[in-house]
Amino acid sequence: MRLDELIHSNPKVYTAKVTTIFRSKQLLYKILGIQKQQKYIADAHFKKREVIFQQFFKNKKVLDVGSGRGDFLTSLREKYGCYCIGLDISQNMIFHASQDNSASVYVVGSSNFLPFKDGCVDVVHFHHVFHHLPPNIQEKTLKESKRVAHEVVMINDNVNWENSFKRFLANIFWKITDGGYIYRTETQWKKFLDKENILDYSMGKYLMRHCYFVIDAKNRVR
Ligand SMILES: C[S@@+](CC[C@H](N)C(=O)[O-])C[C@H]1O[C@@H](n2cnc3c(N)ncnc32)[C@H](O)[C@@H]1O
Repeated sequence: MRLDELIHSNPKVYTAKVTTIFRSKQLLYKILGIQKQQKYIADAHFKKREVIFQQFFKNKKVLDVGSGRGDFLTSLREKYGCYCIGLDISQNMIFHASQDNSASVYVVGSSNFLPFKDGCVDVVHFHHVFHHLPPNIQEKTLKESKRVAHEVVMINDNVNWENSFKRFLANIFWKITDGGYIYRTETQWKKFLDKENILDYSMGKYLMRHCYFVIDAKNRVR
């Protein structure tokens, strides 16, 4: 079993991992004396993310691919009035999601063959999923998402450092704690999405390494 399957197919292991990483990061920021700067950067990212969410999620039908335990879908439903469908390759995750976040609908499936008709949801969303997909299925996943989405595809993922030494360290950290396949830099993301019409994006910086892309699903270049 791959490391990411081990971590992500068991909800208890996943929750323990997220909590441990969060606490370790807070401790590191405290030791480095950069808590305030980090909070400022994180707040700016989440403020921008909120603007994107308000614009693209309000009262929409959303398919969250790699939905895990479904917590994100519950927050979308409660905060933005979305109708939510979760899809995950792990039966275990879907089992726990349908118990713990039962107001959404769930399907077991793989991101590269979405069992849905063309344009049947408004938004297809990925929350920390893309780096867990083998590189050879990422293109097909994006194509499938654009087929199923009527309006936009949203990708929330990690953004790696451009500096090669920092990238090396980040890759080791993420491989150990997360076990994903590929952690792209801003340049690599832009290259991967170069044929797409990017409607909006948010790019993390310094120790805040999250990014968000809003991709026009109607731009059929793939
Ligand atoms: C890091 S977890 C993220 C879970 C959830 N989106 C969240 O943010 O809490 C990655 C999820 O993607 C799922 N996954 C991995 N490969 C997949 C694929 N090819 N198709 C669908 N889901 C996949 C895993 O089973 C796991 O639940």
